[in-house]
Amino acid sequence: MKDLSRTELAALLRRMPKAELHMHVEGSLEPELIFRLAERNGVALPYASVEALRAAYAFTDLQSFLDIYYAGASVLLKEADFFELAWAYFERAAADNVVHAEIFFDPQTHTARGVPIGDVIQGLAHACRRAHAELRIGAKLILCFLRHLPEEDALATLEAALPWREHFIGVGLDSSERGHPPEKFARVFARARELGLHVVAHAGEEGPPEYIASALDVLQVERIDHGVRCLEDPALVQRLAARRVPLTVCPLSNVKLCVYPTLAQHRLPELLAAGLCVTVNSDDPAYFGGYVNQNFVELFEALPQLGVAQAKQLAANSFEAAFVDAATKAGWRQQLDEVFAAAAA
Ligand code: ADE
Ligand code: ZN
Repeated sequence: MKDLSRTELAALLRRMPKAELHMHVEGSLEPELIFRLAERNGVALPYASVEALRAAYAFTDLQSFLDIYYAGASVLLKEADFFELAWAYFERAAADNVVHAEIFFDPQTHTARGVPIGDVIQGLAHACRRAHAELRIGAKLILCFLRHLPEEDALATLEAALPWREHFIGVGLDSSERGHPPEKFARVFARARELGLHVVAHAGEEGPPEYIASALDVLQVERIDHGVRCLEDPALVQRLAARRVPLTVCPLSNVKLCVYPTLAQHRLPELLAAGLCVTVNSDDPAYFGGYVNQNFVELFEALPQLGVAQAKQLAANSFEAAFVDAATKAGWRQQLDEVFAAAAA
């Protein structure tokens, strides 16, 4: 491989095909759409303008973000709103050369406001079908439980979603991590597994490495969302590496929520060097400063030890970690090889 300039590397990062596996659709709600939907749905907002709302996006930790994120989601009321939200994300994802996206949604945030769960799922599923037909993106939904609420609510949410079972491929666990360990959700994850759903969970973002271990042991998750705090426990790192348990890491999110002071201090290079199946994702792109390509480009700019080999590894990891069949993965790998071969020529 010839040496690429940093500008050429950034172009390659943008151009390479990739899967996005950690993106909350409510976190892709841009301020402009918040204001448009608020007006259309007659929802009062405590901000005078798009600029005033954006100015409030200065977070000190996960909870300070979640408070604003749930307030923003309050403008989503109708099936068409959920369609528009997800479609706007898929258009941006296509521009970033995302070939496959497994996106999170938080039904309890909406059902608590009286929105029928079927309207949420149908609106999102409609956007997924159109993304596949028109943008050639494999688009799948993962239903997340809010961990600050009781497990009984999660169990009721899963049962309420079952008439739309064909529209989601898995369940996840998000919201306030500290004080809400994975084992709180043992029964609902057991039920999800029984239903043949994929299972993932946020763990080790703000919470301790023990939460990563219990997500694996108790919830039997197939991927860990974030997981960066595994580095505090070398035995856990070894275990994750040996089993190739994917970590869906979100660099810009980690800086905005003060998990790391700067991108230059992000420990993704160590995670990769330890042989972990790390992927790069945008988490809540409307709130954290950018979509998946922005995460790649800023991360590589901040960390000069990351080069072409790491770029290709991260894209390959995203395919390895996706919930799709081996033949589809092999097709993406071929595309990836072609893009890198062209860059080397
Ligand atoms: N919900 C949306 N983004 C989240 C994050 N980064 N962590 C936990 N819950 C979330
Ligand atoms: Zn997340």
